[in-house]
Amino acid sequence: MADHQTPSTLESRLSEERVFEPPASFVSQANMTDASVYERFDRNYPAAFAEYAELLVWDREWDKVLDDSNPPFYRWFVGGRLNASVNCVDRHLESRGDRIAYHWVGEIGDERTLTYRELHRQVNEWAAMLRGLGVRENDVVTIHLPMVPELPIAMLACARIGAPHSVVFGGFSAHALSSRIDDAKSRFLVTIDGYYRRGQMLDHKKKGDEAIERADTDVEAVVVVTRNEEPAETLELVPGRDWLAKDLLEKHAGATVEPVSREASDILFLMYTSGTTGQPKGVQHSTGGYLAYATATSKWVLDIKPDDVYWCMADIGWITGHSYIVYGPLSLGTTSILFEGAPDWPSKDIVWKIAREKGVKLFHTSPTAIRMFMKWGPEPVEKQANDFRLMVTVGEPIQPRAWKWYYDHVGHGDAVIVDTWWQTETGGHVIVGLPALRNMRPGHAGRPLPGIDARIVDDEGNEVPQGSNKAGNLVLCRPWPGMLQTLYGADARFIEEYWARFSDTSSKDWKDWRYRTGDGAYQVHGDFRIMGRLDDVINVAGHRLGTMELESACQTVEEVAEAAVAVKRDEQKGHVPEVYAILKEGASRDGIEAKIVRAIEEEIGKFARPSRVHIVDDLPKTRSGKIMRRLLQNISNDEALGDTTTLRDPTVPVTIREQIAREPAKTREEVATEASDIELP
Ligand code: WTA
Repeated sequence: MADHQTPSTLESRLSEERVFEPPASFVSQANMTDASVYERFDRNYPAAFAEYAELLVWDREWDKVLDDSNPPFYRWFVGGRLNASVNCVDRHLESRGDRIAYHWVGEIGDERTLTYRELHRQVNEWAAMLRGLGVRENDVVTIHLPMVPELPIAMLACARIGAPHSVVFGGFSAHALSSRIDDAKSRFLVTIDGYYRRGQMLDHKKKGDEAIERADTDVEAVVVVTRNEEPAETLELVPGRDWLAKDLLEKHAGATVEPVSREASDILFLMYTSGTTGQPKGVQHSTGGYLAYATATSKWVLDIKPDDVYWCMADIGWITGHSYIVYGPLSLGTTSILFEGAPDWPSKDIVWKIAREKGVKLFHTSPTAIRMFMKWGPEPVEKQANDFRLMVTVGEPIQPRAWKWYYDHVGHGDAVIVDTWWQTETGGHVIVGLPALRNMRPGHAGRPLPGIDARIVDDEGNEVPQGSNKAGNLVLCRPWPGMLQTLYGADARFIEEYWARFSDTSSKDWKDWRYRTGDGAYQVHGDFRIMGRLDDVINVAGHRLGTMELESACQTVEEVAEAAVAVKRDEQKGHVPEVYAILKEGASRDGIEAKIVRAIEEEIGKFARPSRVHIVDDLPKTRSGKIMRRLLQNISNDEALGDTTTLRDPTVPVTIREQIAREPAKTREEVATEASDIELP
């Protein structure tokens, strides 16, 4: 990245100057009010992180907080043993077994309520069922479920028997699922017959069938959850391979399964995410470090108290749901909402109605959702008087205007807003606002959490001085307990993707290793402002996608010779991909845009659909043949073209721009993604 000047639009200048004080009513009850915590963690790094581990129950206490002998393969709470399902469920039974763990609200108005005791029963039965199907400790179980109670239940059942889970977001296609099954060599799949979306039952199981057919891995057993009492009519079971969960669970009714005592550094789960190549990366999280981190950040940052009712609108299929719908909130013994549906079905006030009825105090969502609510106007939210204490935003930079709308209309000016910057890889929050310690600054993610050492470096790795008004690469210079352990089965790629660029990889001293986040940022008054990805990752409505993944999906269309993806700014989704493709000699152009869109839906999922597809005669390339996506980006965003001097043929981008201006509006509509297609991350 070249030296980026920080943006100086009126909006960002205003936001840099304007701060908001938290209400005294928040500060007086906040979990984190100790201003000396930063100094304590700095002075006592890494030992102070024991405070995180102390929030858990351990079978055996750790001997050492951090083993840093082999960077960047750090091990936290070494020697400690624990079980995550015990921490999330069993430990609450005695004192709060009748407390509700989840209020599940289905799309068609049906509801299910799970107390901790009920959750315990079901997790045990599920654990017995998985064992019965042959799942052993360290076998990876792939879970491809939408937002139904069985999703957290299956995850916790895996955790109970020491089988790492790999949850694949329900919106992912069969192809995406099969590549994840193969990468993890996962022989077990949990899926569902179908689920509802805007009143319609969608067939989900067929994606699993197709994924298994495509996969090289031999999937031995498939557990099929049924969305309703009776299996969907479309459901077909493969004899000897597929099992209805409800049939097997009947056999294991009342079973209890002794939790497997796991080493702190044993794997809790894998979460596949997009990187700079087409191949998804299996981010590997540990049991002890991850769980301690998710729990402590839920307590300090989300301000969760056991008696709260909390609602994170994310999908459990992404990391936000893992850390802040499942592991963190359950570990603290609180009550959460699980919501199957879309935020505008059957009406645009459904979210606010559920929140009011269930007495939600802590509300957690993404800027994409906030922009969507904004577009609907204040009426739906104001119709349902809610009284939130704290509201979270995650996943993308939030524009000060959206922040202010959230603050005024959702929080009525008396709820705090906590912006949380983090990644699948970090396991939990890293840069956040802690309103009881510092005023809120709209559009800024805030300060690194205690013990975290975040810095901004230029492309050569030199630190960008604070106050220089220059942006650079955001790096993390100290290990932290929630960090990924490696990429599953790919240690070399782990080093290459995250460390090689800004570390001395020959060193055995952790101080020589810096984790590259892939994000650009700058600092104002000690607060970090995140600018977004600097690598080939796109953030579409808070979903992470790789440009390479999208481009390889386009390549599966026979007629396509070459394709490049540009990132276009979008008022609603933040960013959307636009495809520029060249066809093979003599290939038919007939319906080609729709074919490319379909290929992306099939290879990745509907949520990755491009906003437009442009068929062009040539792509802007350097003399060495590299596609300059940056110029396509300029075209997509109606910006002046950047430097074209290194192009083999500098007329190419000019021609593309002229061609696009002539494209019929109809093509645009045909491929346009509707706002109603937004799947929240
Ligand atoms: C972006 C989601 C600005 C960022 C938890 C990061 C954010 C990527 C914020 C990770 C925020 C996340 N402000 N940008 N508060 N939170 N991001 O892995 O670009 O799905 O690298 O994790 O989302 O996305 P992921």
